[in-house]
Amino acid sequence: MNIDAFEALAFHRRSVRNFKPDPISHSLLERLLRITQTAPSSYNIQPIHYYVIRQQRIKESIVRSCLGQKQVLSAPAVIVFAADRDAATNNFEKTWGVDLANGVVSEEKMEICRNLIDMNFSTKPLGFGWLTKLLFAPFIRLFTPLPELPAVYKNAWLQKNVGVAAMMFMLAAESVGLGTCPISGFDERRLKKAVKIPRRFDVPLIIAVGYPAERPPARSRLPLEEIAHWL
Ligand SMILES: Cc1cc2nc3c(=O)[nH]c(=O)nc-3n(C[C@H](O)[C@H](O)[C@H](O)COP(=O)(O)O)c2cc1C
Repeated sequence: MNIDAFEALAFHRRSVRNFKPDPISHSLLERLLRITQTAPSSYNIQPIHYYVIRQQRIKESIVRSCLGQKQVLSAPAVIVFAADRDAATNNFEKTWGVDLANGVVSEEKMEICRNLIDMNFSTKPLGFGWLTKLLFAPFIRLFTPLPELPAVYKNAWLQKNVGVAAMMFMLAAESVGLGTCPISGFDERRLKKAVKIPRRFDVPLIIAVGYPAERPPARSRLPLEEIAHWL
């Protein structure tokens, strides 16, 4: 693909809020999710789980948590991007173990990242380590650069990972003529309950997807001159 084709794809995308009832095949949804999985994730921890809602009954049960947004009902599928708060513990050895076996990462690199993850994510002792990190981080930052710590701001870390993957999903869907609407206007607690998503997951975003019933007009963008800062 060249940049002209990618540019055309990006400029063609709109947030679609009115869908045809035509279903999306299981194999196509699966293919879109496999493409979405190619998105980068912090430390390759891959914290996202996808809940693919196609049953009208379940869509009806979440529409109220989504503040009555009608696209949730008209879309043949709604993808819930759920992010695992325990992903560092649950996935690191698994994903890095495969890469280690395949010779893609070295033992040394894995050990360095294991220690970094422990330092950045761990809330030991007794689950209160985040408080210690919150209190000491500003002091440590006086002497050395320190990123925001997921142990303290876990949901911000999860949201970054979801944002990156969500865009991948939307562009992949666009490439096969599907329309999408990213939605963050919902009551997370109620939505999680209706979809039976375990407590350890955050849900920063859901995406309604389907064949567009109409083509919405393009929404404006700020002048690039105002927002691009060339150094
Ligand atoms: C994080 C995020 C949350 C959003 N939440 C909603 C939402 O709850 N409901 C909705 O109709 N659109 C939602 N949108 C879509 C935006 O309204 C839309 O992207 C914006 O108006 C630009 O329009 P465009 O996507 O057609 O270019 C959301 C978009 C993003 C990126």
